[in-house]
Amino acid sequence: MKNNYPGYFLSFEGIDGAGKSTHIEAFGKLLQERYPDKEVVMTREPGGTALGEELRKLLLDAPMNLETEALLMFAARREHLAQVIEPALQAGKIVISDRFTDASFAYQGGGRGLSLDKLNDLERWVQGRTSGTLLQPNLTILFDLPGVVAEARRSQVRIPDKFEKMDLDFFERVRQEYLRRATEDPARFHIVDATQTKEVIWAELVSLPVKCA
Ligand code: TYD
Repeated sequence: MKNNYPGYFLSFEGIDGAGKSTHIEAFGKLLQERYPDKEVVMTREPGGTALGEELRKLLLDAPMNLETEALLMFAARREHLAQVIEPALQAGKIVISDRFTDASFAYQGGGRGLSLDKLNDLERWVQGRTSGTLLQPNLTILFDLPGVVAEARRSQVRIPDKFEKMDLDFFERVRQEYLRRATEDPARFHIVDATQTKEVIWAELVSLPVKCA
């Protein structure tokens, strides 16, 4: 069992510009309406705690050695799990995180080339239970989109951070690593074709069989 807490853990993932931010808040509201007796906790990575938000500023702005970057991502994640995610799941809450560990595999692994062995070690270190299992989201919604389409969308809407300035090949590698992770664990992932319209994507999200009870 991946999450043996009474709560429900959901993560949203995708390359920058895939559109996850458009839907994540509305999805939180939808679950809150469906489960009025449960608290829905909205959080994000890197970030989610005071320390994590400080680390986020550094991670998104400062150039740094790749291993330092991966270690800081997982340090922020350890704090996030200890202070926010695990207590909320323990208390039976629904936790929705804008990105989680799949992003480290995709960006630091696929994108920047850190070895998957090192990432697997960090994942085991930060999410490993004494039972030998890993704490993972119950469900990961992956917004999948060709890098070239995402790039066109990004260029219209925002000032790029450190990652968003990377080239097209980088984003294609990020995308492929997300898809590889999804193939490794198909029961956890739901892949959304993010080239579709917002309305079609929303209809798909609403009909997802999310069972938080
Ligand atoms: P993002 O979630 O897209 O936030 P915003 O919508 O405010 O831009 O930005 C977070 C960035 O951090 C994104 O480019 C992916 C990157 N990232 C990693 O490289 N590794 C990680 O482990 C995580 C969680 C994020």
